[in-house]
Amino acid sequence: MFRSLPESKPDAILNLMTQFRADPRTDKMDLGVGIYKDANGNTPVMHAVKRAEKKLVDTQDTKAYVGPVGSRPFCDSIIAQVMGKDADTDRIRAAQSAGGTGALRIIADLLKNLRGKANIWVSDPTWPNHFPVFNAAQLNIEPYPYYDAQNSRVDFDAMMGTLGKANKGDIVLLHGCCHNPTGADLSQDQWRAVAELCKTNQLFPFFDLAYQGFGDGLENDAWSVRHFAQVLPELAIATSCSKNLGLYRERAGAAILVAEDADNADRALGQLSIVIRSNYSMPPDHGANTSHLVWSDPELNKVWRDELDSMRERMTRLRSDFAEAMRKRSNSDQFDYIIGQKGMFSRLPLSTDQIEKLRSEHGIYIVGDGRINIAGLPDANMDALADAIMGVI
Ligand code: LMR
Repeated sequence: MFRSLPESKPDAILNLMTQFRADPRTDKMDLGVGIYKDANGNTPVMHAVKRAEKKLVDTQDTKAYVGPVGSRPFCDSIIAQVMGKDADTDRIRAAQSAGGTGALRIIADLLKNLRGKANIWVSDPTWPNHFPVFNAAQLNIEPYPYYDAQNSRVDFDAMMGTLGKANKGDIVLLHGCCHNPTGADLSQDQWRAVAELCKTNQLFPFFDLAYQGFGDGLENDAWSVRHFAQVLPELAIATSCSKNLGLYRERAGAAILVAEDADNADRALGQLSIVIRSNYSMPPDHGANTSHLVWSDPELNKVWRDELDSMRERMTRLRSDFAEAMRKRSNSDQFDYIIGQKGMFSRLPLSTDQIEKLRSEHGIYIVGDGRINIAGLPDANMDALADAIMGVI
């Protein structure tokens, strides 16, 4: 039977990660997959996480099932982190998920069950894995213009123009902060305008919030979702502990549902629970339990926040250093846009051939659309990187 299956095309980002690992060159540079790296190119376990894991191993006295929506204390903590301490939690529910991608998928399945083959509008460009996830949930994907590559900024008028034509009840996928792949975020005024449009035209906002804490800090990065929750009756958020707790392989995250009132919130969570039970039954526990231990212990919480702050500050500095190195070589400010962008990514104006040349001749790994992982920029080797990029341009 398997003989009749077509060859599969590997995932562009994950395949690049595999190629990088297999590359024997010692001076190779990984600007590909979205994983935080320190100055030595390593992704160590965060200090607070290491301590929480030890505590977990020492104190956990059962591995009995938890349930489809996972741990209640974890869900309460992640609601507080994303929606803020003053949020109206009567109308908010969360289900622990298998990472941010797992949250995207279960929310998409829930929306498909509710709406049939509904339209979901995604930014052009967006994280490539949004396509297989929403296709698998049988939603109909439509692009809305987002990034003006010529001027390296959000094309807000075009975005609003297209979303203004969406049908009542359509779903709009929004990157709550640190847009992946461009790093170009909306201003608060622009977020207000999008929220108004969703309210007036009855569009359903669905946030992907995978990078909270990597842009302007934990509180500021959640401004968009908190504002939407204030002005709209319903929304959904897929959030993740992969990046801000560095728990990538543990697969911890949450699907957060904001409803009109407590009754509707319970109804929505009940349906989400059925989606989960019929899929993988219940989420993995270790990463979520570890996250909760970090958040609930004041000392570990502080250690974690300090480390997260220093990761963010380092990425901000790398943005400036890289733009500076490119300014010197190009005698222009054409790369300065990178400084003002947020989070882990920016996009370089490179062709497929140039990206391929960087990989084959210099061991520099960049995603095929020109996306670079800012945390992968080499502190000590910025000149070599800038020379190589200018060499292929
Ligand atoms: C990325 O965008 O590189 C990360 O979110 C990793 C992934 O799963 O693609």
